Amino acid sequence: MSVQKARTQPEIARRGQAFPLEHVAIIMDGNRRWADKKGLPRLMGHREGVKTLKELVRYTGANGLKYLTVYAFSSENWNRSPDEVNYLFELFGSVVRDELEELTANNVRLRFLGKTEDMPPHLQRSFQEAVQRTSGNTGLSLQVAINYGSRLELTEAVRKLAREVQAGRLSPEDIDVELLSSCLYTGDLPDPDLIIRTGGEMRLSNYLLWQAAYAELYVTPVLWPEFTPGEFEKAVAEFARRDRRYGGD
Ligand code: FPP
Repeated sequence: MSVQKARTQPEIARRGQAFPLEHVAIIMDGNRRWADKKGLPRLMGHREGVKTLKELVRYTGANGLKYLTVYAFSSENWNRSPDEVNYLFELFGSVVRDELEELTANNVRLRFLGKTEDMPPHLQRSFQEAVQRTSGNTGLSLQVAINYGSRLELTEAVRKLAREVQAGRLSPEDIDVELLSSCLYTGDLPDPDLIIRTGGEMRLSNYLLWQAAYAELYVTPVLWPEFTPGEFEKAVAEFARRDRRYGGD
């Protein structure tokens, strides 16, 4: 696999599927540390992180990846300073607005995972518009987890099923892994094959806990703004070396 250079569509068609996996989820960590390292204001790290994400979306989309899910704002990130939270929200709004055209042109389908109803109304509107405008696209499916927390996601799914049982529309015995999975934000997505975390911390931070049951984990010390397509290919190459046994021999 060539590193860095995105392949053209005809090249991909000749080679068949370019990646040995279909769903990659990423914890984009280390933006502020990157800014500290460069002597820049910390919020500039997030701006640089957006550039990394754009490049990766272009690259993975052009190389035939089916699903990319990124953690942009956790339900715990509200605990950051109001200045930082506002900055991130403005960034999300401007990125979605500015990139919609390119996403559409590149056949990318955009979705949001999380409690978006608690986000500012103008953001909710631009998210909805982006979801609608890209809903017919058939290339890369890009999920942005925003105001996302896995425990809350599971709690809400259980609450929804409990209501169905209480209303007499479902019996407790009908609740199985598939039904619970279908009630999550990721209901119609396959589980991630690979979870990448940049910035070196060895934890999942309330990200896709249920969906990660059999995912391969890849943690790199590389800070998110420096995570190039070449680094992504290293993670995929490591994935290809792993022996996935799903609990079997
Ligand atoms: C973690 O770095 C990063 C975030 C909390 C924000 C990630 C958001 C982006 C890269 C922008 C994405 C934009 C869209 C529209 C999806 P950190 O601040 O925790 O860094 P640190 O570990 O160095 O403190």
